[in-house]
Amino acid sequence: MLNFLYHIPTRVLFGRGQIKELAREIEGYSRRILIVIGQGSVKKYGIYQEAVRILKKAGIICFDLAGIKPNPLLKKVYQGIELCRKKDIGFILAIGAGSVIDTAKTIASGVRYKGDVWDFFLKKAEPKDALPVGTVLTLAATGSEMNINAVITKESTEQKLAIGSRLIRPRFSILDPTYTFTVPKIHSAAGVVDIMVHVFEQYFSPTRGARLQNRIAEAILKTCIYYGPIVLKKPRDYQARANIIWAGSLALNGLIGLGKVEDWATHRIEHELSAVYDLTHGIGLAIISPNWMRYILNKKTAGAFSDYGVNVWGLDRDKGPVKLSEEAILKTENFFKSLGVASRLTEVGVGEERLEEMAGKAVAFGELGGIKKLNKKDVLNILRMSL
Ligand code: NZQ
Ligand code: ZN
Repeated sequence: MLNFLYHIPTRVLFGRGQIKELAREIEGYSRRILIVIGQGSVKKYGIYQEAVRILKKAGIICFDLAGIKPNPLLKKVYQGIELCRKKDIGFILAIGAGSVIDTAKTIASGVRYKGDVWDFFLKKAEPKDALPVGTVLTLAATGSEMNINAVITKESTEQKLAIGSRLIRPRFSILDPTYTFTVPKIHSAAGVVDIMVHVFEQYFSPTRGARLQNRIAEAILKTCIYYGPIVLKKPRDYQARANIIWAGSLALNGLIGLGKVEDWATHRIEHELSAVYDLTHGIGLAIISPNWMRYILNKKTAGAFSDYGVNVWGLDRDKGPVKLSEEAILKTENFFKSLGVASRLTEVGVGEERLEEMAGKAVAFGELGGIKKLNKKDVLNILRMSL
């Protein structure tokens, strides 16, 4: 296990009705806030109205930035930064899913920065100061409600890039599983895939000895495998939604990656796909992830995949590591298919045409991966295997 610093300070208010605490959570920060929302679901299902009623009652002045789309765009971030400066806003509340939260976090990082907020994504500068952010989560997937990351797309250059700064980790997040009852089937499925792939990115690692982190990771995977299908069949099953939402937060709040080299190659490759084709993130991951596993499987990596096969899928260790790993990968692919998500790029309208360009962009900041380093040719091979 490697050295690490453990500090995950987000206050999580978990469960039915926790929205009642909203004003109390914000009051210490500011009485002028920006509310960031998506393309309508939170208004359709009354979550926005309930939040605003509580905030107004507490005398908090609210301004809105609406219309954040999946694969959120930089231009909305600029709009939010302008609004915060003009209205002297001191706190940002995201009500929605990952795209809304990531937009809120990026706005927060840019308000007091004199340059272009995109500098942070190009690694030309780092956030030094940020407005505090809080979230009311409505979809289980990204873990953005508890983590330091934000992912934004710059349309004009078709770049989808990430920032990571502890300054933008949400101060609090309200996780009410009932808010996720209305998530459409395809987004619930994509969310489960996203959670599982977040675990893979940290679980499959060259670091030895982080046994406890690996057992926690396996528990999250088993929770997804057990409750994922239930969420799709019974969208209003409270326990299923509760377990999935908490799995999403724990999968990517930093906990299971502590003391380990992480991978993130699958995510970098997927971000190129969603930058160009506006693909749903979890669907892109469902297609790439099993092929990434197959591509990097060898005698050296088979140990990690066999543990996964035995501990998560209950496979028999006697088969030998490579055969066992192949079976575990097939189990993963079939599970994703059983959730109703696509398994080939051609199914979602992606052909050979731009694969080489995307492979080049994926490695623009250097080789990918932790358990196995990948160059442009490797990325292209994985994309081709996924067609
Ligand atoms: O826009 P609205 O109307 O709200 O509809 C959304 C959207 O269409 C809908 N939705 C959300 N909650 C709902 C609901 N519909 C009905 N009832 C509800 N309760 O769901 C759709 C998808 O929303 P989106 O925010 O795109 O989903 P998700 O949470 O999966 O976020 C995906 C984005 O996060 C990035 C992805 O790349 C993608 O851009 N990621 C962010 C990460 C992070 N910050 O740590 C890590 C991830 O790996 C990921 O890259
Ligand atoms: Zn993800």
